[in-house]
Amino acid sequence: MAFTAEKEALVVDSWNAIKADAAELGLKFFLRIFEITPSSSGLFPFLRDTSVPLEKNPKLKRHAMSVFAMTCEAAVQLRKLGRVIVKETTIKHLGATHAKAGITSEHFELMRYALLETIREAVPYMWSPKMRNAWAESYDQLVEAIKKEMRSVG
Ligand code: HEM
Repeated sequence: MAFTAEKEALVVDSWNAIKADAAELGLKFFLRIFEITPSSSGLFPFLRDTSVPLEKNPKLKRHAMSVFAMTCEAAVQLRKLGRVIVKETTIKHLGATHAKAGITSEHFELMRYALLETIREAVPYMWSPKMRNAWAESYDQLVEAIKKEMRSVG
């Protein structure tokens, strides 16, 4: 099924409504992931061996922001081009980094759930099954691009 302008708008409009609070949302997003699967915090090298509290960790917020913003960008590309294209150097870096960190399909699933829940809670007045599906489809396509690159790393 085509990724329509309506789907793109559902993602872009909700992202525009919340991005000013992205730092706080990003923290909520990750706390949810770590609450469901506490061991997943051990995947992040910058969270190991550090005395900086989770909520003050700039790298964690940056990672959350990348996931939100790249998923939104994926929606725009899906509507325009019918597929997700990430800049060559960026996708190579993403593939290599996640392969090296041992990120699995289960981790991507977990993040998907946390992403959708975080957005639902942030925009309850906009939320609908259509909005959920538009975010989910964009995220899934982005993850497919990352996984493809991870496989090519080995
Ligand atoms: C690194 C984005 C999913 C764990 C990164 C980086 C980006 C990124 C941009 C590079 C940061 C840097 O080099 O400074 C994304 C996107 C995702 C995704 C767009 C999904 C659409 C995940 C998932 C996990 C994860 C599901 C695990 C639950 C990590 C780890 C690193 C990393 C452990 C390496 C951090 C480090 O070495 O400092 N990710 N990520 N990512 N990501 Fe993700």
